[in-house]
Amino acid sequence: MKINPNTKWHQQTNVIHSGFSRSQNNETSEPIYLTSGYIYKTAEEAERRFLGESEGFIYSRYGNPTVNSFETKLSNLEGCEKSIATSSGMSAVSSTLLSLLKSGDHIISSRALFGSCRYVIEDILPKFGIDVTFIDGIDLDQWESAMKPNTACGFLESPSNPMLEICDISKISKILRSNKAKLIVDNAFSTSIIQKPIKLGADIVIYSATKHIDGQGRCLGGAIMGDEEFIENTLRPFTRHTGPALSPFNAWVLNKGLETLEIRIERHCRNALEVARELSKNKKIKKIIFPGLPSHPQYDLIKKQMNNSGSIVTFQIDGGKKDTFNFLNNLELIAISNNLGDSKSLITHPFTTTHQRLNLIEKEKLGIADNIVRLSVGLENINDIIYDLQKSLETI
Ligand SMILES: Cc1ncc(COP(=O)(O)O)c(C=O)c1O
Repeated sequence: MKINPNTKWHQQTNVIHSGFSRSQNNETSEPIYLTSGYIYKTAEEAERRFLGESEGFIYSRYGNPTVNSFETKLSNLEGCEKSIATSSGMSAVSSTLLSLLKSGDHIISSRALFGSCRYVIEDILPKFGIDVTFIDGIDLDQWESAMKPNTACGFLESPSNPMLEICDISKISKILRSNKAKLIVDNAFSTSIIQKPIKLGADIVIYSATKHIDGQGRCLGGAIMGDEEFIENTLRPFTRHTGPALSPFNAWVLNKGLETLEIRIERHCRNALEVARELSKNKKIKKIIFPGLPSHPQYDLIKKQMNNSGSIVTFQIDGGKKDTFNFLNNLELIAISNNLGDSKSLITHPFTTTHQRLNLIEKEKLGIADNIVRLSVGLENINDIIYDLQKSLETI
């Protein structure tokens, strides 16, 4: 029995029930189709499949039932026409950009990006004759003035990694559309539970499924979502032949992650808000950045664009790099790790890790000082998370 997305059911019901067919064994949980290839009954059938005249799988680089199930669930959750799953968030970013852009095109990108996204745009795209302009993504005037006749797309993260800057997706998409340019949003920090960029006007949404979608630190994955025209005519030929395919095993794990995403996100957000409120009272903290606090400079936009404030809290220690490292090293429960969106609380020092390769001027423009830390608040008991932070702050 195949259960299709159905307006009769709510989002959470659809995520659990859509996108899979039961085998002849009528199992409750989806089977994993851990296969690289498929068998045709006749040579004629193989020919028809390759000609696209008959339906069915050909090869798992092209498509796989377990991966398809993940893609269908994601499309239902996001409210988009189509999705393609990829082996990591970065293969989603690079496949999107390399399939969409050609030599002579121009891309405008917010400069507040995760380090590897920035590397792809800044160092790889120009090698293929693509003109790149980095701007301050929260400044709409800079989007307007960066537009050129050959601008093909804009790229942004909102909230950004690690300084949690918020870009006005709706207004930026209008600016780009005036030139028929597409807006690509990396929605990794929000997930589609908190923010739906396509509904706000974005054309393409990207995820690192490694983060909250898995949410338990098990596997890498990614996804690209958009309209049928882009996914089928531009992206699919690219991914079929270049091969950033998601493994069926990882797709199965991520499918299980999707079933609990909504409730996990609610708890992540609740814990993060409590952490942010507690840390705002702590004298060892110089500055705290969190979308759920009225002190966030874009609090009004956050209320319009997001329905919750996320799991990441970024803060500045009142001290230097040595004090900041002491604080990190003295944590007992919260682990030092550059991953995020995990059930375990994880903390990182972006200056020396995820954003290490940026020069000092760029770091300064982004506000990434050596006493900034990014905390991914997990699902542990909130009292334990706060106790660990407070205890370690006392040692500074
Ligand atoms: C905002 C953002 N985009 C993309 C990525 C890349 O995802 P992955 O590690 O799954 O390749 C990350 C990973 O840290 C990220 O934080």
